[in-house]
Amino acid sequence: TASAVSFQALQQSVVEELSSKLPHYSWTGFYMLDPNDSGTLVLGPFVGDPTPHVRIPVTQGICGAAVATGETVIVDDVNADPRYLSCSIKTKSEIVVPIHVHGKVIGEIDIDSHDPAAFTGEDQVLLEETARLLGDYLEQHSD
Ligand code: SME
Repeated sequence: TASAVSFQALQQSVVEELSSKLPHYSWTGFYMLDPNDSGTLVLGPFVGDPTPHVRIPVTQGICGAAVATGETVIVDDVNADPRYLSCSIKTKSEIVVPIHVHGKVIGEIDIDSHDPAAFTGEDQVLLEETARLLGDYLEQHSD
């Protein structure tokens, strides 16, 4: 649909803006639940190195944990977290922020950093606000 196309363009702008303004964001992208298979996250627009994780079962990864809890997950040391699915050996820390539509998780913003413990409460506030705006946008543009 036309609104799906423009939502992808919005997501593209968001990842470009975040990654250009925030140098500790080494990989910045979206994973969205597959509308035909709610047990799987699908890679969306991103800025950074290509990742082997194009589809992630919601039972796996830091990404899956954020879907399961519906809450932001911050991991200061990814190599110490058994849930972590590696995208790059350079990644040291990660934040995943779910996006809700009508109270349900529909996807998430995922950021990796090459710095350990890179993500603070300020990142959490910024990214949760961004996720809220995107969720509100989808609520207003879906029929
Ligand atoms: N590290 C994520 C997988 C996605 S890559 O970071 C882009 C995870 O553990 O779920």
